[in-house]
Amino acid sequence: MSPAQKEQTLYICGSCGYESRKWLGKCPDCGEWDSLNEERGPSRLSPRRQTATAQPLSEAEAATVSRLVTGIGELDRVLGGGIVPGSVTLVGGDPGIGKSTLILQLLAALATENQKVLYVTGEESADQIRMRADRLDIDRDGIYLATENRVEAILAMAGEVRPVLLAVDSIQTMLTEEVASAPGSVTQVRESTARLLSLAKGSGLPVILIGHVTKDGAIAGPRVLEHMVDTVLYFEGDRGLVFRILRTVKNRFGSTNEIGVFEMKESGLREVENPSALFLAERPVNVPGSVVLPSIEGTRPILVEVQALVSPSSLGTARRTAIGADPQRLALLTAVLEKKIGASLFDHDIFLNIAGGIRIDEPALDLGVIVALLSSLYEKPVPPDTVVCGEIGLAGEVRAVGHMDMRIREAARLGFTTFLMPATNQRHLDTRTAGAMRITGLGTVQDVIEQIFRA
Ligand code: TYD
Ligand code: MG
Repeated sequence: MSPAQKEQTLYICGSCGYESRKWLGKCPDCGEWDSLNEERGPSRLSPRRQTATAQPLSEAEAATVSRLVTGIGELDRVLGGGIVPGSVTLVGGDPGIGKSTLILQLLAALATENQKVLYVTGEESADQIRMRADRLDIDRDGIYLATENRVEAILAMAGEVRPVLLAVDSIQTMLTEEVASAPGSVTQVRESTARLLSLAKGSGLPVILIGHVTKDGAIAGPRVLEHMVDTVLYFEGDRGLVFRILRTVKNRFGSTNEIGVFEMKESGLREVENPSALFLAERPVNVPGSVVLPSIEGTRPILVEVQALVSPSSLGTARRTAIGADPQRLALLTAVLEKKIGASLFDHDIFLNIAGGIRIDEPALDLGVIVALLSSLYEKPVPPDTVVCGEIGLAGEVRAVGHMDMRIREAARLGFTTFLMPATNQRHLDTRTAGAMRITGLGTVQDVIEQIFRA
């Protein structure tokens, strides 16, 4: 690298890592305002030259991947069946959500007398970690702890300890000697990650990075890292509630959209083995505006409660709020109802909520939203033994969704007896899948009114 390149000033977007030679008010890549900060290279604009050799694919080593299985079922599922050797996993989440707790429990699950794990923290003191370990009542055999934020020192330490897993808490506190920027800056976070990445790829040691998700400009947004690592997990949940959801947003070694459900207890995180029961625990029965949706999260069904509140607006522009669902989708569904059944919603405030702090992204939520909205608008409760799911098209048609067998089984397991689903799905069901469930097929949103609210 030439000295000229090294001294080069770059402006890097704190949100997505976009690089520019001059300052810009708005990032052209991600659209964030005032997110470009001055940093010094090295950067992708000045790539280092390396020699490398290509290898025929047929000669690439046969992939007999033996994953590190933690034995914590909710965690292993999210990881796609355990941790892959040489993989780098980013665990992101708001401060205080429980990332350090989760990782310490994960490390404890893997560590034994002759299977060492290494936990490096740049955030907390060794005493703080010990106190957490006491609180979690974990077996400390095989857990090595270091308070360090210099990546080069961590690399050396990993070589000495020879752990089966390295966890770095958090990547925003790490720094490499190779760049002059402050810890937490995009360059520093990216270069530190690159060092740890080559450690993982070179030695086969799997690495877990913890990252804070903060919109603050001083801390590098996690999107910078998402492209670099193999797996990205988000730990989310309402801090006021006890549920925590670990969600896969990227996984080179497994499916995405998988979730693991945990409960934060006094003594740490506990797996929730029956999330449907948990999410429905506080469901009000025979109250307008509430309906149950059998949703598919990754590879498994979870029943959730969709709540809507529709009330006349006192404002010039009616309010639209969606929590746990896409606000754009809510706007679209509201428009479909206005156009297709003449519901007058424009002068009503609409609040939509998925109970329990979970987020639902799949289109099968549409029918749940429509039913909840109409139930609240008409002040008519949905029968408590009923579940609904289906996608809604712009013409008001109810469109088929996948995994109907799983959805029916989960609904039946929790005692639901009536299932309103897309007519196309119903036509393809065999009697064995349907079991004792009473199934009604819906073709259009008008059918929804006929079947549920016309009584
Ligand atoms: P922590 O893992 O430190 O969060 P993060 O690393 O994401 O910032 O956990 C933070 C919260 O979890 C803290 O407010 C206390 C709570 N907690 C429990 O309720 N039970 C426990 O056993 C532990 C260790 C923490
Ligand atoms: Mg922490």
